[in-house]
Amino acid sequence: MANGINAGYLSLNEEIVLDRLPIKGTLPGWLAGSLLRNGPAKFELGPDTFRHWFDGFAMLHRFTLKDGQVSYANKFLQSEQYKISMEQGRIVFGQFATDPCKAIFKGTMTETDSVNANVSINKVAGDFVAMTETPLPIAFNPHTLETLGVVHYEDALQGHHGSAHPHYDFQRHMSVSYMTEFNMPSIFHVYAIPDHEHRRQEIGRYALMEPSYLHSFGLTEQYIVIVEFPYRVNPLNLLNSHKPFIENYEWRPQEPATFVIMRKSNGEVVGRYETEAFFAFHHVNAFEQAGEVVVDISAYDSPAVIQSLYLDQLRDRVEPATQSSARITGGELRRYHVPLGSAPVRYELLSHEAVELPTINYRRYNAGDYAVVYGVSTPEQRVAAFSSQLVRVDLHGALGSNTKIWGEEACYPGEPIFAEAPDARFEDDGVILSVVLDARVGRSFLLVLNAHTFEEIARAEVPHHIPLGFHGEFFPSIAIL
Ligand SMILES: [Fe+2]
Repeated sequence: MANGINAGYLSLNEEIVLDRLPIKGTLPGWLAGSLLRNGPAKFELGPDTFRHWFDGFAMLHRFTLKDGQVSYANKFLQSEQYKISMEQGRIVFGQFATDPCKAIFKGTMTETDSVNANVSINKVAGDFVAMTETPLPIAFNPHTLETLGVVHYEDALQGHHGSAHPHYDFQRHMSVSYMTEFNMPSIFHVYAIPDHEHRRQEIGRYALMEPSYLHSFGLTEQYIVIVEFPYRVNPLNLLNSHKPFIENYEWRPQEPATFVIMRKSNGEVVGRYETEAFFAFHHVNAFEQAGEVVVDISAYDSPAVIQSLYLDQLRDRVEPATQSSARITGGELRRYHVPLGSAPVRYELLSHEAVELPTINYRRYNAGDYAVVYGVSTPEQRVAAFSSQLVRVDLHGALGSNTKIWGEEACYPGEPIFAEAPDARFEDDGVILSVVLDARVGRSFLLVLNAHTFEEIARAEVPHHIPLGFHGEFFPSIAIL
């Protein structure tokens, strides 16, 4: 049995299907649909071990809720990388931080093989897909979790490093994303995929000599918001060095972070706006108001957080943290104001609690003014964990008293996902779903909170631990138990 803080980073090898999980509490009668989640679940194979949490082999998880019951299934994503590694009994491909990764630069890996897509779940052009930071996603069956294979698009766009976080434009009925084509110079492409068309249409592009490491971006009614952090790579180093992918990037705190604002309708870059260096994985939301673009983001002073997530460090951690190196600093929830003129960019802090894996009521409020952010974080006294509490931030409330918290001793929650109630009248009319590792017993459960009060409604218990994952999505349309 896996228990203790490190249980979240231990491999789960079993694939199971369970028709009914034991439930404590009572699920709302209206709650029907499936929470599909992705994340690393296998960290060792034969003589090899992945070095970084971000690298483990992808496992898909499905929690289906209907008529007050919950079913569960999990399956490894059958990527080529996974299958070939299993056949050979060792890890044979480079990942984010594990091995030299020249294949990314050469494009061979991204265009011909299916990669270990362990980061997110999205629905793109009608396909349910698992994604990582390579341009082509892997489709799977959302009911059975069977892998269907790489999605190939019928276009000539090329790139090497993409995003696991495409946006969906509800006005234009299309997915929007980006990819970097490494070259001298490199090209940053922004593109759309209309619903049910397996074709990427370039919205805009620009050249740059040293691309930044980006994980996500922002979308407003009229604009695409790209933040170039001063965490840059010379593409030649990706080809020539023997370092893992991310270790080729260089942090330059003396250089600015740059907000690039691109017009969605024609790809025109309407402005580049500089501010002091910072780093982020996750945009939260963005919208336009009174001549400025508002960009909410989970921000760090530097990318040191990546260093703190190597597996050897994570697995050694104990609570309480006994040394400063065991401390994980969470992202600050910041609101950047980007004036579309000559005024300087400025930001304000939106919560005193750290916020990571941020989510919102995406369907109704993405690209618009909104009031509620959900996320995970770690309080001062539990800094050894990446995530030891769930937070709900009321952006209309006063700083200092605007954050509600759910937490339980030795429990480590995953990304909170909002599921809207039928006939919802308010932004937070619904529930929050989060997969929580209970390290006291070495097992996980699906937690259901009232999204407004942040109080527990019910939990459904899984008979094993689920390694801490990254991202998922709730699909009301998938409700077959
Ligand atoms: Fe992410």
